[in-house]
Amino acid sequence: MSFRTQPPAPERLNRCQLFGPGSRPELFEKMARSEADVVNIDLEDSVAPDDKPAARANAIAAVNDIDWGCKTLSIRINGLDTPYWYRDVVDILENAGDRLDLVMIPKAGNASDIYAVDALVTAIESAMDRSRPLGFEAIIETSAGLLNVEAIAAASPRMQALSLGAADFAASMGMQTVGIGGTQSGYYMLSNESDESPRSRFWPDPWHAATVAVVGACRTHGLLPVDGPFGDFSDPDGFRAQAQRVATLGMVGKWAIHPAQVNLANDVFSPSSEAVREAKDILEVMARAERDGQGAATYKGKLVDIASIKQAQVIVRQASLIGD
Ligand code: COA
Ligand code: MG
Repeated sequence: MSFRTQPPAPERLNRCQLFGPGSRPELFEKMARSEADVVNIDLEDSVAPDDKPAARANAIAAVNDIDWGCKTLSIRINGLDTPYWYRDVVDILENAGDRLDLVMIPKAGNASDIYAVDALVTAIESAMDRSRPLGFEAIIETSAGLLNVEAIAAASPRMQALSLGAADFAASMGMQTVGIGGTQSGYYMLSNESDESPRSRFWPDPWHAATVAVVGACRTHGLLPVDGPFGDFSDPDGFRAQAQRVATLGMVGKWAIHPAQVNLANDVFSPSSEAVREAKDILEVMARAERDGQGAATYKGKLVDIASIKQAQVIVRQASLIGD
């Protein structure tokens, strides 16, 4: 038990982050009109090397010219192992207006990666007299990122969110899969030989350990934990299953790499009206218990106690952000 209380994560919705390549400006208006809470214009891996300068200019124009409503607006810069990232940061900070909320740092491997971007951003903000500090989000998608995830989460007060990026993570870890998230056919368990014939298979979650590491680091340091892409955008059931698993483990949202995934994510990461009603009932029951000098009570035949208040508050807070 620590005497330090857990810092709250930023009070904003992050149920779905919709990505679009910076080299496809015709998508930007559609991204702005989508139901996603967060929009990410990508300068990194969905943009071919020759298109990097044009994508950068498109992204800056989009920040300045498009009405993004109340969405959180983010640009994914190139990784620190490329020759592109410093120009991304300099051009964005010098030319994109204050409407830009975040930059996303991909392939974060350690706290110094965040520090390096922070140093550059802080110097340009000061030189340009920018009034609104830029926030950061980063992607955990390498073995180093996994091992250093807590230090990355704590690396800067600008940090707001961490995403787990399945494709690069799998490659970095040497995982035997080319799938982007979801069930992997080689990762299964068999029932005991004596129990069943034929033996049944079931599929555990190969992303479980990394998901828990990201959620733990985020919750410890007051960041929003987010699940990255699910590549097969024609498999809504697979997307929903992946989203529901990470929601159960504490993540607040998931990326969409195609508009077909936006409503699925919004649905999974919005508490149902039944869950909200139950959470409010639990708060009511516990308020009564407290008035009676009790720390525990019974709700629908089950124990509820002071920890239940915190669980219920998570759901009620999320519902109030959504506006239910
Ligand atoms: N955001 C908003 N709208 C999008 C979109 C996106 N990311 N991707 C596609 N659309 C639009 C299309 O323009 C089309 O609109 P229309 O009905 O008005 O013509 C509609 O959605 C259907 O698109 P579809 O034809 O199915 O997709 P596509 O072949 O144009 O593009 C992808 C498919 C996967 C290449 C594209 O969705 C994409 O680039 N996704 C993001 C990739 C990315 O950013 N990756 C980095 C993070 S992993
Ligand atoms: Mg990646």
